[in-house]
Amino acid sequence: MARPSFQAPKGVAEYLPPDSADFLAVRDGLSEPAIRAGYLYAEVPVFEDTTLFTRGVGESTDVVSKEMYTFDDRGGRSISLRPEGTVGVIRATIEHGLDRGQLPVKLWYSGPFFRAERPQQGRYRQFFQVGIEAIGSEDPALDAEVISVAYRGYQGLGLTQFRLDLTSLGDKNCRPQYRELLVAFLADLPLDDATRKRAALNPLRVLDDKRPEMSEMLKDAPLMKNHLCKECDDHFASVCQHLDDLKIAYTIAPKMVRGLDYYTRTTFEFVHPLLGAQSGIGGGGRYDGLMAELGGQDLSGIGFGLGIDRTLLAIRAEQGTFKTNHLDLFIVPMESEARRAALIVADSLRTAGLLVDLSFGDRGLKGAMKAADKSGAQFSLVIGESELASGALSLKEMSTGELIPATMENLSELLLARRT
Ligand code: HAM
Repeated sequence: MARPSFQAPKGVAEYLPPDSADFLAVRDGLSEPAIRAGYLYAEVPVFEDTTLFTRGVGESTDVVSKEMYTFDDRGGRSISLRPEGTVGVIRATIEHGLDRGQLPVKLWYSGPFFRAERPQQGRYRQFFQVGIEAIGSEDPALDAEVISVAYRGYQGLGLTQFRLDLTSLGDKNCRPQYRELLVAFLADLPLDDATRKRAALNPLRVLDDKRPEMSEMLKDAPLMKNHLCKECDDHFASVCQHLDDLKIAYTIAPKMVRGLDYYTRTTFEFVHPLLGAQSGIGGGGRYDGLMAELGGQDLSGIGFGLGIDRTLLAIRAEQGTFKTNHLDLFIVPMESEARRAALIVADSLRTAGLLVDLSFGDRGLKGAMKAADKSGAQFSLVIGESELASGALSLKEMSTGELIPATMENLSELLLARRT
């Protein structure tokens, strides 16, 4: 095939039939538990003022400093495509006063996000998330609820091999002291220049260094989890207790480092071992200072972002299957009178809740039956002169070839009764 003149930009995830049905199944499977837990839908813009992200996500993070799509709009304002969803949702919550009513505010969202990363399997420049944010309560039961919503989403999609990593990053009382301890520890290590620079910018991020020589050097590093203040320690213990109650298995991961700066206290990541380097299928945590930082009340919050693309890859890696809707009926009209009847029948069956397609144009019986076959419909129905004259129809079950007598009147009833 000749190379088309235009191709999609490098590194974007696109979903077209037949894969797009699986994409929708994952998106819906991840959002359903949120809806069932009382989260309400928020549709916020895919671009925002750049300063919202530099302030909210953190200027020193890779996501902001290296990966944002930033441009000046026609009015000369600096705009960025959203690299993540939390700060936009918090901005909207403050702007529209959602936090002036009943707390916690519980919102969910879904859509595309943009990071100018080096593309590879599971890492895209436009990717998709389902996310939730619960704003305005410090109750550890809320942390457990948020985690359970993600967990049930993955389980509902049939995933069995994912792992939940969990830790606490402390708060504004205990983290600064811990940071000093860690800086002092790192100062004594023979770090290379790049790592030294990283340590100066954000010492916590050095803990995530996966190189074997670094893991060796860091094995006695002080861990935040062992230096939590009493409030944070109790809070974390209570989150764990709730997760135990819910029979949600987790691994304590005290060296976990998230790529965004706003996290405090409970922080978590869902990891899938079959995905190689891009194994994070979702993650989230508490962000107790974020709302105040963005000019709102000083309310705490917690949420997650689950990667739809990577979840889909994980399901494929586990050889999982999707239950997707197939057409109930494919109608083959034989001539123009029948075509009018076919469109009327299709329209009324669709209104009755059935999934119906029909053949268009003059493709002949053979071509139209081939289309019926390819459509994946459970039944086909030929409508020609004799069917119109007699009113006697014959539904064909595509998988077996069985013919079932029908009339215009009982068609929808028959199809619904035999639906697989
Ligand atoms: P995040 O960990 O940066 O968190 O992203 C969440 C998920 O999005 C990741 O676990 C991954 O599955 C997916 N993801 C991220 N980058 C890419 C990429 N380049 N290609 C494909 N998938 C990707 C957040 O975004 C936070 N806003 C989550 C959150 C909500 N925390 C609190 N509330």
